[in-house]
Amino acid sequence: MMRQSSLVVVANRLPLDDNVAPDGACEWRRNPGGLASALHSILRQAPATWVGWAGGAGPPRPLPDIGTLRLRSVALTEDELRGYYEGFANSTLWPLYHDAVEPPLFDRGWWETYLVVNRRFAEAAAEVAEQGAAVWVQDYHLQLVPEMLRQMRPDLLIGFFMHVPFPPPELFMQLPRRAELLRGMLGADLVGFQRPQAAHNIAQLATKLLGAQANDRTITLGGRTTRTGAFPVSIDVAEMQALAARPDVVAHARELRGLLGQPRRILLSVDRLDYTKGIEHRLTAYRELLRDGLVKVRDTVLVQVAVPSRERVESYRTLRDRIEGEVGRINGEYGRVGEPAIHYLIQPFDRAELAALYQTADVMVVTPLRDGMNLVAKEFVAAREDGSGALVLSEFAGAADELNDAFLVNPHDVEGLKDTLLRAMEAEPADLATRMERMRAHLRSHDIMAWARDYLSTLDHTGRLAERLARR
Ligand code: ADP
Ligand code: G6P
Repeated sequence: MMRQSSLVVVANRLPLDDNVAPDGACEWRRNPGGLASALHSILRQAPATWVGWAGGAGPPRPLPDIGTLRLRSVALTEDELRGYYEGFANSTLWPLYHDAVEPPLFDRGWWETYLVVNRRFAEAAAEVAEQGAAVWVQDYHLQLVPEMLRQMRPDLLIGFFMHVPFPPPELFMQLPRRAELLRGMLGADLVGFQRPQAAHNIAQLATKLLGAQANDRTITLGGRTTRTGAFPVSIDVAEMQALAARPDVVAHARELRGLLGQPRRILLSVDRLDYTKGIEHRLTAYRELLRDGLVKVRDTVLVQVAVPSRERVESYRTLRDRIEGEVGRINGEYGRVGEPAIHYLIQPFDRAELAALYQTADVMVVTPLRDGMNLVAKEFVAAREDGSGALVLSEFAGAADELNDAFLVNPHDVEGLKDTLLRAMEAEPADLATRMERMRAHLRSHDIMAWARDYLSTLDHTGRLAERLARR
């Protein structure tokens, strides 16, 4: 039996690749994705256990500790991977929670698998949590875990945090097993969201579906009260600032500009290749700017970094084909020999490379159709020590609540998107510097540690948990 911890994090994914080196060494390999980025920063030196899936199908493997963090892997079979991860989590919940920008699919078999796998995660957490421990369950994959865990271990303090948007009742009500999903989350002592609207949505749903007594801060059901609230997730600002200041990163940023042909303006986008990220709308806007001569190749270049994601899910495969077709068409029509209109890079980058890219960009284009937070926007701001650079940011990203000095845009409105891109490209340096300084000041006081402290001290009034993380 594994040693027990007083803080247990339960997330679908472990933060490491499934390829542990042949000598058994285990390196943090951050999975591209907001959850891993955020939790990596706060947990890499915390005395905690992380329960999660190590990728792939097959029996569980014992994994080495990472510093003081223990890893407990949960195994999935091939069928479970399809029904739970690719099916219910990423073909039903993910599209539904993101405004149904892609139609959600409902399959009764997937639900059964989701139940089985959630129970396995709950059992693993129950096994590694010491008496009275705090267990912090993450995201839409594991919505049933809080209630299951409470049944198994009533002694635990249970938190749940939803990294993605929590939808308005009219969307959530489409879910065939809506009441069970809601009850599952409400097994937690505290349910946290990215935006205040989500707390409002769950209160309405709990009243309507479960007959609970609810407002935007508490939900009382069957004599037990769950607290709710918004805790906007953030980034390790100090880490990004330190990376951006490293002489090799600064030199690399300069070198990248040269490699891109010293254009007057560089536009940059960095996304997981996901239909929620608005990549196609962005490409349409860029194509029209080129067509109308408002943007010229050689003068301006767009760098689109798009790391492949969930590649066995049909909607992700077809999205990738469409994007690659469109990038090819734009480059074919508007590029010149040695001068593509768009540099398209479909690969993971390490943090230093990302920091160099952020520094090279004149305009960072972050235009998701819907996004829980969007950490890329925050990383860009943190990387801009000199106050230059413009951020074009979708109103539909959680980050827009905080970074309202960005050039905010509705990405569905292609004309508006084109105008906003042009405004950002032509903005006065003094205007940009003012905007950037305000955004940087906000981030300095709202970094990832502040997020964890805020959440954990709300979960645990004694402050014991938050203090433990702060000692890292
Ligand atoms: P999501 O969680 O939907 O993927 P976020 O913007 O919140 O979106 O988080 C994405 C995270 O993944 C960021 O920390 C970003 O730096 C990282 N990331 C995105 N693209 C890449 C890439 N090509 N290589 C490495 N990391 C990436
Ligand atoms: C989003 C989700 C995370 C997820 C990440 C990457 O950030 O909120 O839970 O881990 O995307 O997706 P993946 O399916 O590769 O884990």
